[in-house]
Amino acid sequence: MQCQSNTELEALVEEAKQQTQHGKIADYIPALALADEDKLSVALYYPDGRCYSAGDIDENFTLQSISKVLSLALALMDHGEEYVFDRVGQEPTGDPFNSIAKLETNKPSKPLNPMINAGALAITHMIKGDSVEDRLQRLLAFIRKLSGNKSITYNHMIAQSELETGHLNRSLCYFMKQHGVINEPVEELMDLYTKQCAIEMNCLDLARIGCVLAMDGADPVSGEQIIPWDIARICKTFMVTCGMYNASGEFAIKVGIPAKSGVAGGIMGSIPKKCGIAICGPSLDDKGNSIAGLKLLEMMSKNYSLSMF
Ligand code: DON
Repeated sequence: MQCQSNTELEALVEEAKQQTQHGKIADYIPALALADEDKLSVALYYPDGRCYSAGDIDENFTLQSISKVLSLALALMDHGEEYVFDRVGQEPTGDPFNSIAKLETNKPSKPLNPMINAGALAITHMIKGDSVEDRLQRLLAFIRKLSGNKSITYNHMIAQSELETGHLNRSLCYFMKQHGVINEPVEELMDLYTKQCAIEMNCLDLARIGCVLAMDGADPVSGEQIIPWDIARICKTFMVTCGMYNASGEFAIKVGIPAKSGVAGGIMGSIPKKCGIAICGPSLDDKGNSIAGLKLLEMMSKNYSLSMF
C-alpha cells in the first residue's frame, strides 16, 4: 500500500523539524547513535485504507519502547488480565523509564506498570513459547499481522548493541528474579527483550498498527479481530496514562491522544475509532520522547482537533 504525500502535513513537518536541534539522539544503546537526528516523518492510517504521509516515510526505525504495547497485548492474550496484573501494576510513575527506585520501595516488589522497563521485562517474560526463538517468532507473527507487512523483522546490530550494554536492564531483571517476579535465566530474557525492542518498521507499518488499536483490535481491511477489544482498550489506556513516561500528563493536555514513544524516536498514536498515527524523529528531549515528534503532534492536534478530551 502506498501512502499519499500531503502538502499540509509537509508544512507542519518542516515547522516541527526546527525542534530537532534542541534535542539529542539516544546513545546509551551505541548503535542508535548512528541515526540521522534531523529527520522527521509522519503517517496517518485510516480504517478505510486511506493513508497520508510527510517526510522520509520509507525510513526504517526500531520500535524500542513502542514494542511494550504489543508485547503487553500478546501477554494478555496468552494469560488473561488477572495473571498479568497480579505480577505487573497499572499505575503511572513520575520516574524515568529505566528507574529502579520504585521496584525497591513498592511492597510487594512488583513493577508499577508495563510501560516502564521493569514492567516491560516482566511482560516479555510472560510471552509463551518453547524457546526464546519460538517466543520471538510468535511476537513477530503477531506484529506482522497487525502491520499487514509480512517482511517485518528485527535489526540484529541494534539488538546486539543493547544486549552488550544493557546492564541497567540486566539489574532490573536480577532484582525481579530475586523477588520472584521472573524465573527464567536473565540472559534469555535479555536476549528476547533486546530483539523485541529492535523490531524494525517504517511509519506506514506503525500507523497501521495504531489504526488496529484505534479500531478496538480489528484489522481495518479484513475486519478480523486480531486483538480482543477489551485488551485493545487496556493497551490504549496505558498509552494515555504511561505511554510518554513522566511526560504523559503534559502530553494528555497538549495533544490528548493515546500514544507510545520509543528511544529510537518513534511515536505510535491511536485515535479511538478514527485513525492510527506514526512519527519518527530520532532527536529526543530529556525524557526520551521525540522532541520534534511532540511538537508535530501538538500542532496536528490543534489544527485537526484530535484531542479526545
Ligand atoms: O530498554 C531500553 O532501554 C530500550 N530498549 C527501550 C527504552 C525506550 O524506548 C524508552 N522510550 N522512550
